[in-house]
Formats: sequence, structure tokens, C-alpha cells
Amino acid sequence: MEINGKTRVCGLIGNPVEHTMSPVIHNTLAGRLGHDLVYVPFPVGPGRVSEAVAGADALGVLGLNVTVPYKSEVMDCLKELDPLARDIGAVNTLVRTKGGYKGYNTDMEGLYRALLSEGVPIEGQEIILLGAGGAARAVAYLCAVKGASKVYMLNRTLSRAEEAAAEVNGRTDRQTVIPMLIDDYAAIPDGEYLTIQGTSVGLAPHADEAVITDDAFYRKVRTGFDLIYSPWETKFMRLVRAQGRPAYNGLKMLLYQGIIAYELWNGVHVADEDAQAVYEKLREHIGQSGTDRND
Ligand code: ATR
Repeated sequence: MEINGKTRVCGLIGNPVEHTMSPVIHNTLAGRLGHDLVYVPFPVGPGRVSEAVAGADALGVLGLNVTVPYKSEVMDCLKELDPLARDIGAVNTLVRTKGGYKGYNTDMEGLYRALLSEGVPIEGQEIILLGAGGAARAVAYLCAVKGASKVYMLNRTLSRAEEAAAEVNGRTDRQTVIPMLIDDYAAIPDGEYLTIQGTSVGLAPHADEAVITDDAFYRKVRTGFDLIYSPWETKFMRLVRAQGRPAYNGLKMLLYQGIIAYELWNGVHVADEDAQAVYEKLREHIGQSGTDRND
């Protein structure tokens, strides 16, 4: 694209930002939709987030994504907070408004849209969630808000799952989340569950690990969804597929968190065919073009 005097700027703040795929998402969308917009990564050093946000506002930067380690810290630098982001306690998208930025969490809406795009509902479902860290807590909250009937939250450290469950159940005023020790998975009633892998286990370089490896557990999985997308197929996904069930990685979640941010910045709706084109670009970028195993 040609940059001119009217080109609008969006970007990413975090530390580090060198390996981000967000520019692929946003610059591809801008190109396809004919928007005069560029998206660039901005590495921000420790303790400089508020300066970065104020500076971006002064420069008229239309929108920012926020990544590790600033998703909580940035909340103190905003003019306004979307209620979902406030309740989750993490912001990954800033939209410039008059007088400052408004913060959103499109990670969780992104997960929701990714599940929808695969035809996997949350409402009325009983769900197994592995993990109780920052990411899994947000997933538990999303599931509760979107009407899951139960979420069995399994974690290595029970106290962390108990705290997360109390927080989510308290906020939603329903006892949706049931905290459990991960080793007690046999106590989950027989059934077929949407199972979301929200721990950091399975991430490269520990690609050959999963928090549960027992086939008896995987017979309870109707659909597996891993938040990780590197490696492309995690050990968790392999174990789900070994039972003949579909398993998805986190790339569509990454895709849709970006698409929702782009929609907020530009006031547009991104059509399915554009989303699909961006998804193909992301797959090319990580060397995984071709057909999906579930296709
Ligand atoms: P994130 O922000 O990515 O969620 P986190 O808050 O550090 O990262 O959470 C990591 C999650 O992975 C936690 O659920 C953690 O379990 P604990 O709460 O018991 O620490 C889980 N996890 C990490 N390494 C693990 C391992 N080797 N075995 C089991 N669970 C593990």
C-alpha cells in the first residue's frame, strides 16, 4: 500500500512484540477492505505503558492491541472500560475515543466466535476446562456469561481453581464453575463434553506433553479446543483425535480476536470470506497451509 498524509495507524504494544502475527491480520484486512490503514508493532519497555498510551493518543493512533505483559497494567491508563474486559481483568484492545482510549477484551469474544465458526456452542453445555491461570480464568468467565450449564475447572493446584471458581461464580451469581484437582478427572460424570485446554502445557518446547494422558479421560471429550496454536497439533489435540473426535487449535481464536478489534476500530463487519482469507494468510505465515485434519 501507499502511505500518504491521511493514512491511519493502529498497532500493538507489548514486550516483546517481534514475533507477533497481528500485522498479518490487520494489514491483510486493510488491503482486502480498501482501508487506508497500517498496523505496526511497538515494543514498550517496563514501566512505560502509560506514556505509550498517552503518546499514542497525542499522535492520533486509531487503535492499539495490548499483549504480554501489559494486559492488566494498561487498565489504569484508560478513559473507559468495556464491562466484559473489566470483569475478566484484562484488556487486549484499545479504541481511541474523545479524551482517551476505551479498553476491550477481544480475546474472549474471539474464542467465542472461533467456537461458533466451528459449530461448537457454549450455551446450555457442560464443559471441561483444563487450567486455572490467567487464560483459563477468562475462559471460565466467558463460558459462564455465555450460558454454559456447568464448567468443571481442573487444575494441578486446587486452590487456584477454587479461587477462580469463586470469583467467576460470584460475578455471575450462579454456581457454574466447579473447581477440581486435575488428578480427580475420573470423578467427572460420564458424558461427552466440550473440553478446552487452557494450561500452558503442550507449548513448544514441551510439545510432547499434556496435563492428562489417560485415554479414559479422552473418551469423555466430544470436541477438544486448545488455546495453543504452536505446535499446530498439540499432544492434547492428538489424544482427542485418537478417540475419533474433532480437535481445534487456538489459531482461529487469534484470528477472531484480531477481527473483532479491527471491527471496533473501523466500525465495519468483517465478512466470513475475508475472515477465511486472513486465516489462510496466518496459516501460510506459520507454514501450515493446506487442509485441516478435521475437514
Ligand atoms: P496463562 O496466563 O497462560 O494462563 P498462567 O497464569 O501461568 O499462564 O497459568 C498456567 C496454567 O498452566 C495454570 O493452570 C498452571 O497450573 P497451576 O495453577 O497448578 O500452576 C498450568 N500448568 C503449567 N505448568 C503445568 C504443569 N507442568 N502441569 C500441570 N499444569 C501446569
